[in-house]
Amino acid sequence: MLTLSNLAKAYGGRTLFRDASLQINRGERIGLVGPNGAGKSTLFSIILKENSPDEGQVLLERGATLGFLPQESAPAGDESILALATSHEADEYDALSLQPKAKRILAGLAFKETDFDKPARTFSGGWVMRAHLARLLTQEPDLLMLDEPTNHLDLEALRWFQAYLKGYPGAILMISHDREFLNQLIGTTCEIGHGRLQRYRGNYDSYLEQRAARREQQWAAYKAQQREIESLQRFADRFRAKASLASQAQSKLKQIARMEKLEAPETEAATVKFRFPQPARSGLKTITLENVEQAYPGGQPIYRDLNFTAERGERIVLVGPNGAGKSTLFNFIECVITEM
Ligand SMILES: Nc1ncnc2c1ncn2[C@@H]1O[C@H](COP(=O)(O)OP(=O)(O)OP(=O)(O)O)[C@@H](O)[C@H]1O
Ligand SMILES: [Mg+2]
Repeated sequence: MLTLSNLAKAYGGRTLFRDASLQINRGERIGLVGPNGAGKSTLFSIILKENSPDEGQVLLERGATLGFLPQESAPAGDESILALATSHEADEYDALSLQPKAKRILAGLAFKETDFDKPARTFSGGWVMRAHLARLLTQEPDLLMLDEPTNHLDLEALRWFQAYLKGYPGAILMISHDREFLNQLIGTTCEIGHGRLQRYRGNYDSYLEQRAARREQQWAAYKAQQREIESLQRFADRFRAKASLASQAQSKLKQIARMEKLEAPETEAATVKFRFPQPARSGLKTITLENVEQAYPGGQPIYRDLNFTAERGERIVLVGPNGAGKSTLFNFIECVITEM
């Protein structure tokens, strides 16, 4: 249905991939993996024709439809959640006929009926992302392209989404760093890394095993060749000056030159090093919140009577369902700190 042939893309002299070819058939489930910055989203943008490759081409079967969920979802405006979920239909009548399906999907993603008519911009990032997801699933394209779809979903929504995708009638190409999610859903893994796109049969765990086995084989072959080169070289060095063996020594050197040299397999990408400047030492109580209450204008309080203390050196994780007010609390603390 979709064919990528010999795609190449570089930015500022750095090759993301070259000779990247891939065939996606109807109903296939493919995971696209690779380290941050490898070029996964870039490959998506090329498939979507938002970006052009330096070489190669993308062919989509005539009449086949694509649907795409971006890594960072577009901000939402004044439209209602339901309007957003059906907004791909230019035709008002079609939009109406899709409403029952959109409502079912919105409900699956845990929207309440009373949410359907509320403006999308009043929802938190995780919920806006769900509304975009609902729009895509309602549209049901032949190829669903998802760029890290699980990033903003809480556990309950994630479970529903995974089950829904299992029964999805079209093909799916998704970028994800979520191992469990990939293992549950995909039958093929494509890896972008070291300038190549490699296809592996099987889910994510199976890909990891195959890749490790492939690296090991490459290492073994590389080391065997290095040993052979060394021994030929030793012979040549030792006997080059000796008249009776000089021609043999010469032929050993030629043998080395003629060899097709194997490259050492790439090891894992270098790890990222972070350094945060050492801040001035704070008091024991780093943050104290006392009876904090917050609400968005005209809305219900998100929380009230909130009391919280963070002590120096503590590690704290903040959890809660989408829309519970996690980001709001962070923003609030940040505002207070910068005003100090
Ligand atoms: N328009 C652009 N101009 C210049 N460089 C770009 C552009 N778009 C992307 N890049 C660079 O290309 C590389 C690949 O980016 P891309 O977003 O495709 O990575 P990714 O594999 O999706 O990473 P992540 O897992 O972090 O989402 C990055 O180094 C990025 O900085
Ligand atoms: Mg990306």
